[in-house]
Amino acid sequence: MKRTQRCGELRKEHVGQTVTVCGWVDTKREMGHLVFIDLRDIAGKVQLAFDVEKRPEIHAAAKNLHGEYVVQATGTLRARDPKNVNAKLATGEIEIDVAALEVLNTAKTPAIEVRDEIKTDPEIRLKHRFIDLRRRPMQRILQARAAMIRSMRATLDAEQFTEIETPILYKRTPEGARDFIVPSRAYPGQFYALPQSPQLFKQLCMVAGLDRYYQIARCFRDEDKRADRQPEFTQLDIEMSFNDREDVMALLEKVVPNFVRALQQDPTFKDCDWPVLKCGEVKAPFERMTYETAMRDYSIDRPDLRSRDLRLTELTAWAKGCSFNAFKGAAENGLVKALRCPGMAEAFSRGQIGNLERDAKGMGASGLASLTVGAPVSVGATYMSPLQGAIAKFIPAGEQDALVKACKAQPGDLIFICAHAKEKVVHAVMHNLRTVVAQKLNLLDPSKFALTWIIDFPLFEYKEEEEKLYASHHPFTLAQDMELVRKLAEAARKSGDGSVISRLKAAGFSLAQVLGIRNNQYDLVLNGTEIAGGSIRMHRTDWQEDVFELVGISKEEAEKKFGFLMNALAHGAPPHGGVAMGIERNLMCYFGLENIQEVMAFPKSATGRDLMIDTPNEVEPKLLKELGIEMTPPK
Ligand code: AMO
Repeated sequence: MKRTQRCGELRKEHVGQTVTVCGWVDTKREMGHLVFIDLRDIAGKVQLAFDVEKRPEIHAAAKNLHGEYVVQATGTLRARDPKNVNAKLATGEIEIDVAALEVLNTAKTPAIEVRDEIKTDPEIRLKHRFIDLRRRPMQRILQARAAMIRSMRATLDAEQFTEIETPILYKRTPEGARDFIVPSRAYPGQFYALPQSPQLFKQLCMVAGLDRYYQIARCFRDEDKRADRQPEFTQLDIEMSFNDREDVMALLEKVVPNFVRALQQDPTFKDCDWPVLKCGEVKAPFERMTYETAMRDYSIDRPDLRSRDLRLTELTAWAKGCSFNAFKGAAENGLVKALRCPGMAEAFSRGQIGNLERDAKGMGASGLASLTVGAPVSVGATYMSPLQGAIAKFIPAGEQDALVKACKAQPGDLIFICAHAKEKVVHAVMHNLRTVVAQKLNLLDPSKFALTWIIDFPLFEYKEEEEKLYASHHPFTLAQDMELVRKLAEAARKSGDGSVISRLKAAGFSLAQVLGIRNNQYDLVLNGTEIAGGSIRMHRTDWQEDVFELVGISKEEAEKKFGFLMNALAHGAPPHGGVAMGIERNLMCYFGLENIQEVMAFPKSATGRDLMIDTPNEVEPKLLKELGIEMTPPK
């Protein structure tokens, strides 16, 4: 090596040694006959001292150094004068009295500053990512990412998992997003697809008897952009044989506490202020909550349980009999829910309430009612807390009392109510509202980690507009009641025409019955973010055919798309199931970051471009011709 130590590794105990360091010029200060340079590398900074009286030539060379020049310096490590000690720097007690200096490379002035805190346009940071990554917070994040993956590997290796790579040139499969496709030169007109996940290959590994598989897998999904999504991301992908869902959950209950501990104990990160370093031990087992409870209490299947006590109340039954027509109408076939905000009667200004209502309308609601609970007044022999607010006059005293009691509200509370014929609208509004209120109540402490499994999801989702059933996870997930699935599939096959759901209805099954079937999926949720998801799969072809039938994947389509899976299942597939954990999603949560780009070395921009290498880009017409592709000019 061209160095004896890294810059940031030098300490008082090395004083007196001749050391050689290499790194980037961070800062330069000239003070009388001395020049001081802070030299930086991944381990930190060390001060180089150049004295014109001792070595005029080297001092002159030091004066000519500029920011980001790459240099090698050799000299004696000495203790600083006590008055020059910099307590903020790990190397603040020492400096190198430089006797030899070599410029290994010069550097242009970078477009962004190499400082811990910068306020630079994210796109400029991405365009100059190789400079951005010289900044200490970025390097620590990438080191922590590596430490986390190292720990994951260690945990899985100890549990007898085999790391297996699966193909990147894959085939179009349904996983919810659009595929990225890759044209084949050898087979003009034919395409590979990049994997949205290694889902089917890991199942094939189980059929192959590999028993326990894992992979740090790259996944590709052409989805709408969001702050917590990237078109290309990484999963810890796991599959195991002869197991139940509890076995998979128990495995992640080892993986997560282990890597959290690894990060907390690693001295590299001791100066970082990430929430994961302050959350304490992550204890297993994690809580398990059913989908039904999550939707009932929090209107979302990934509730943020840091605000666990801020529960929603369903008021549909109350609303059906109430005098306020807007609620009554919505309750007929829809949903009415309330959020009680404890002691918050005065917490929001009129303007803020107006904004919340505007947000609710933006989500499709016709409005958002807000009522405050007044001090109790005596009514006959009892006391009642009257409601105040724009709609209070439409609700008679008795109904008000029932509402207050249903919400377990107290004087001084604020109650929001949303009513709509579409359940989805009410859920969206109430989830958003709960987040706003939790924030206002300071319940969302980033250093608190609330981990929960959500289980017992519905097997199917129903899209009314299309009159179609969809697998709510993916169509390979095992139902809890395969017997009922078989009966439904048989009924759907028998009566020929119309949508699957109309055929099932004709055979005497109700939509509620179909949507009531639970699956063997489990999602791991951390502070309101889904960080992992998986399921036990169907290992029998007849089961898989039944589910394909119900989600409208015809025999021909199944054969064309998943013939290989069906064939494999028919060759002695063991019962199996697994899970995948988004590496970046996890890191975002553990580091308290808002954007997934921050935890990736070379992410795509918000519009899906790599701004540094400038791609996607056009290719030569010759190449297109070889691939048999003809372009129509873009509009
Ligand atoms: P799923 O689609 O739920 O399951 O994905 C698993 C986890 O991957 C992460 N994730 C993403 N992270 C960043 N950007 C994205 N675009 C993105 N999409 C998903 C999330 C999510 O929890 N094959 C199944 C797993 C299985 O059944 O075993 C799958 O991929 O953290």
